[in-house]
Amino acid sequence: MIEKLTGRSFLTLLNYTTEEIQKLLNLAGELKAKKHAGIVFEPLKGKNIVLLFEKDSTRTRCAFQAGGNDLGMNVTYLGPTGSQMGKKESIKDTARVLGRMYDGIEYRGYKQETVEILAEYSNVPVWNGLTDLYHPTQILADFLTIIEKFGNLKGINFSYFGDARNNMGNSLMIGAAKMGMNFTAVAPKELWPNEDLVKKCREIAKETNASINLTENVEEGAKSADVIYTDVWVSMGEPEHVWKERIDKLYPYQINKKVMELAGKDSIFMHCLPAFHNRDTIIGEDIYNKFNLPALEVTEEVFESSQSVVFDEAENRLHTIKAVMYATLGDDK
Ligand code: CP
Ligand code: NVA
Repeated sequence: MIEKLTGRSFLTLLNYTTEEIQKLLNLAGELKAKKHAGIVFEPLKGKNIVLLFEKDSTRTRCAFQAGGNDLGMNVTYLGPTGSQMGKKESIKDTARVLGRMYDGIEYRGYKQETVEILAEYSNVPVWNGLTDLYHPTQILADFLTIIEKFGNLKGINFSYFGDARNNMGNSLMIGAAKMGMNFTAVAPKELWPNEDLVKKCREIAKETNASINLTENVEEGAKSADVIYTDVWVSMGEPEHVWKERIDKLYPYQINKKVMELAGKDSIFMHCLPAFHNRDTIIGEDIYNKFNLPALEVTEEVFESSQSVVFDEAENRLHTIKAVMYATLGDDK
């Protein structure tokens, strides 16, 4: 069933039906084709949006900024400092102020509750650009990429390696359940997704012929996978001291040549990015000095291989975020 998307917020994929997610993906494909053809398409000219970032970002921030500009809108960025939000002014009051000035609000930060309060009180569409719990716009980009590589989502064997309780693990599992995919979380038991969410996704899976599987066994998780996906082992906002414990737990789940060989030559490697695949970053070098590991969740060899589609995913952040903005702010979508 498809409800009208105009005026809706995009806070979690749980609030969108299979058909609505497919509609957003189709729209993203159309917007991508227009962009690649050099067609100027500014259906949201005259509108203003604001981007609220309590955490760092390259892709999400730039996709909302460039995407908003592409669609003809004016875009304001508010970073972790420089506004009153959360310090002198509550989220509820901030929502009511911004809703009087802007047509749409993007939020990246910590609590899912914050993005929900913004949506409840602003009276305009609010888009979740990542919270500790969910990262729904990333999943649209990932799924558009899978469709481009395999032609469909239904029946795709999707294996997620690493911290499966984080925003990416949660959102990918929900998305896979909604779209009829076979999702497998490959991780030590203590990093499996929350039981209630697994239960909810298994309920959804009954309707879509998806399956939700959890395993500690790398071979079982990699064998016959179409997609091997991983994310950072320590997410934004987590304390520094968890690095050691997380490395100890997740090193056996690193995506390396052996894992890709188990999956087979037709499989693809995906990562939402940023990734620790070499020592070319401040944190990468620091980890190397402390733990003597030149790469963490994925080796340089796999990251740079022809099976890696990470930069297609990154580009698709733009087209899918444009689709979300266009669908929720445009007329009668
Ligand atoms: N994947 C992703 O959300 O990247 P940024 O943190 O750069 O936005
Ligand atoms: N799990 C990661 C995703 C980054 C896009 C984080 O929250 O830092």
